[in-house]
Parts: sequence; structure tokens; C-alpha cells
Amino acid sequence: MKLKRVLQYAQFLLQDTVEAGDIVVDATAGNGYDTTFLAQLVGENGHVFAFDVQKQAVESTQNRLQVEGLSKRVSVILDGHENVDQYVKETISAAIFNLGYLPGSEHEVITKPNTTLKAIESLLSLLKVGGIIVLVIYYGHEGGKEERDQVIEYVSHLPQKKVHALRYEFINQKNDPPFIIALEKMKEL
Ligand SMILES: C[S@@+](CC[C@H](N)C(=O)[O-])C[C@H]1O[C@@H](n2cnc3c(N)ncnc32)[C@H](O)[C@@H]1O
Repeated sequence: MKLKRVLQYAQFLLQDTVEAGDIVVDATAGNGYDTTFLAQLVGENGHVFAFDVQKQAVESTQNRLQVEGLSKRVSVILDGHENVDQYVKETISAAIFNLGYLPGSEHEVITKPNTTLKAIESLLSLLKVGGIIVLVIYYGHEGGKEERDQVIEYVSHLPQKKVHALRYEFINQKNDPPFIIALEKMKEL
């Protein structure tokens, strides 16, 4: 397969950017798959800050990390990603979001446009030049299209000399498949 699937491409971008010893953020920990992936990339001297507003997600992420022996490299925080700057003071090399609801949950708790945009703004300022923010945008659920549209509107107006904004999307798939928005910081904002 020549064209990377959306989730493969998200992981490829992170892998290509994150080095051992880096500090990174998982903005939507969920069941902890991306948190675990990032914890492997940063190695034992790096650190992952993972956020989720649901206790169920925080516990699921902590369990997964424990099984993998990666708990020491991660702070799993029960709070919204919009508050990231209260917890992360260091420069980060990467962040990832999976927008939408927790798979296997009741779909009641979803990411929302205002808090998502606030988090992207804070993360862009914490990001090092050369760092990357990856957003995997699921929008099939109620409220998903509004969030998708607001994120696209916001990132399309970022100054192009300071941030490169990419959309990676399969355009002939049915059932609202997820797509990627990736932001690479080129200069201090
Ligand atoms: C699509 S899921 C994430 C899936 C996850 N990356 C994984 O690997 O399983 C989205 C998650 O975002 C969380 N969420 C919703 N609003 C949030 C907020 N303001 N801050 C942080 N997490 C939030 C939800 O609780 C849900 O677990």
C-alpha cells in the first residue's frame, strides 16, 4: 500500500519529529494508544503529558501504561486540554489530538470547538520551531461537523511564514472517515 492510512500517517508524523528525551503532549488520552506510542518515542529521559476530562479514560490510559512499564514517563492529567499551559511549562516537540468521543463509551463527552481551539493556540506557543501538532479529526457524530469546520477555519488563517498547515484526507471514502490536520511551526509566533 503506497498511501498511508490516516492513523498510520499520524504516527509517521510523530515518529519523524519526536526524539528521545523530548517533552510531548497527548491532548486526548482516551484509551491511551497514542499516549503509549508517544511514551515509547520519548524514551526513559523524555516525558508525555496526557490529558482527558473523563476518569474512565485516565484510568484506561494508566492501566495500559502500567502493563507496558511506561508509567514513569507519563503524567496522565484529569483535566481539559484547554488548561495545558497550567501543567506544561517546557517547550514541546509534538502534540496529538483525536477529536470526537471515547471509543466504547456513551458518546456523551465529545471534544468541543472552543476548548479545542484554545488548546491548539496554547500548544502552538509551547511548540519548538520544527515541532508538529497532529489533529485526527473524526466528525461523523453530532456536533462533529461544527468542530471540524471551526478547526479548519482557524488553521487556514494561521500566518503561513510561521506555521505550515496540512490537510491529509481520502476523498472517496464513505461514512465520514477521519482526516488529519498537521501544523508544523516554522517560526516563533
Ligand atoms: C477520540 S477519543 C481519543 C482516543 C485516544 N487517542 C485513544 O488512543 O484511545 C477523544 C477523547 O477526548 C476526550 N476529551 C473531550 N473533551 C476534552 C478536553 N476538553 N480535554 C481533554 N480531553 C477531552 C474524551 O473524553 C475522549 O476520551
